[in-house]
Amino acid sequence: MKKIKIAPSILSADFAKLGSEIRDITTAGADVIHLDVMDGSFVKNISFGPKMIKEVRPYSKAVFDAHLMIVNPWNYIKQFAEAGADIITVHQEACGDRLKQTLEEIKALGVKCGVVINPDTSVDKIADVIELCDMILLMSVFPGFGGQKFIPDVLPKIQQVAKLVEKSGKDIDIEIDGGITKDNVKLVKDAGANVIVAGSTVFNEPDRAKIIQELREI
Ligand code: DX5
Ligand code: ZN
Repeated sequence: MKKIKIAPSILSADFAKLGSEIRDITTAGADVIHLDVMDGSFVKNISFGPKMIKEVRPYSKAVFDAHLMIVNPWNYIKQFAEAGADIITVHQEACGDRLKQTLEEIKALGVKCGVVINPDTSVDKIADVIELCDMILLMSVFPGFGGQKFIPDVLPKIQQVAKLVEKSGKDIDIEIDGGITKDNVKLVKDAGANVIVAGSTVFNEPDRAKIIQELREI
């Protein structure tokens, strides 16, 4: 069994005090800080960019996981690497034919790379790049907003990715993102996910250490 890592999404944090929010969830036990970057084009929302990531970087030693929901991500990966991202994930739907090349470009910058697919994208679309990745991110909501409802159709996709990862013999994390709560976290772990993104579930809870521990142990 791979180590379970809890990755709070700061999309649900208080942006007026982002530095201390990130310090707070790190102290509370977060393994990974999930950074949702949205451009208003790939998704219908705008969040933040590399400058913000750079400025909050000193507030935590946890892994900074930049989930790029942007078009033409290759134009920005260098900026995110320089801002302090430890891993950069790009959407298959945004990369098309440039997916493999983009993953290689991220690696060449000295950071880890991953591919993301939306709920309606099949695993077949990424099968030939899985071995290049440090992490595979499966969306369990359509990206754009926090606080949406988990789409259970992702569960067989997690199992499918888990099989491909096992077959590769490589150490590749499987991350799940969207609508994760105490009620469904066991389902996604049992299917094979080991990096658990949780935005509203963590930030709506006053006792963050407790909710992070619960998500880890359930
Ligand atoms: C959705 C983002 C998610 C989201 C998770 O576009 O990629 O990371 O913020 O938030 P919750 O856990 O509230 O669904
Ligand atoms: Zn995300």
